[in-house]
Amino acid sequence: MTTVLDRLSPYATNMIRMDHTHVLATFHQYKTTSAPRVKQGLAGTICLALEIHAQLEEEIFYPALRAVTDNEALRKAVPEHNEMKRLIAQLRAMQPTDARYDDTLMELMRDVMHHVADEETTILPEAERLLQDRLGELGRKMTQRRLALLAPRSGRLAADMARAMPASSMALVAGVVAGGLLLGNRLARRV
Ligand SMILES: [Fe+2]
Ligand SMILES: [Fe+2]
Repeated sequence: MTTVLDRLSPYATNMIRMDHTHVLATFHQYKTTSAPRVKQGLAGTICLALEIHAQLEEEIFYPALRAVTDNEALRKAVPEHNEMKRLIAQLRAMQPTDARYDDTLMELMRDVMHHVADEETTILPEAERLLQDRLGELGRKMTQRRLALLAPRSGRLAADMARAMPASSMALVAGVVAGGLLLGNRLARRV
């Protein structure tokens, strides 16, 4: 039986690309000259989006790919996630007025750009070659897991989005954690 969720879930690799696009666009909204509450809202949205994205990859996507291939980018991916999580923890422990806040956010952005480049040039093309028949099923699993992970965090997300609003549109900030689910983009279903 095809459920609404099945129809709205993009293929796993396209969902990952959409997450990357949304989180990088949110990083680009961050200005060192913005008000502290706006910085905190954007940083909080970025951190939550990265955390959920990394968890979906680690729990569902990477294991499926690891079962059929072994490449260097895949071996480096989890240690790179761990480094991002270390910076996320640092940011959460700081106030946006702290001297190191902007630098820590920029360091996180550099790490994310590097990691995303490796995924998009190596890991995703490999997955599309080797897991072609499973990308729909993996996308559905990732969407279900995303919804479960978002549920207990909805209060924090709403607060961060409200703070970030002066600097970004609601659609952008919502998209950063929605993973294409709300868009229901037919193009996203194509591999
Ligand atoms: Fe990723
Ligand atoms: Fe990743």
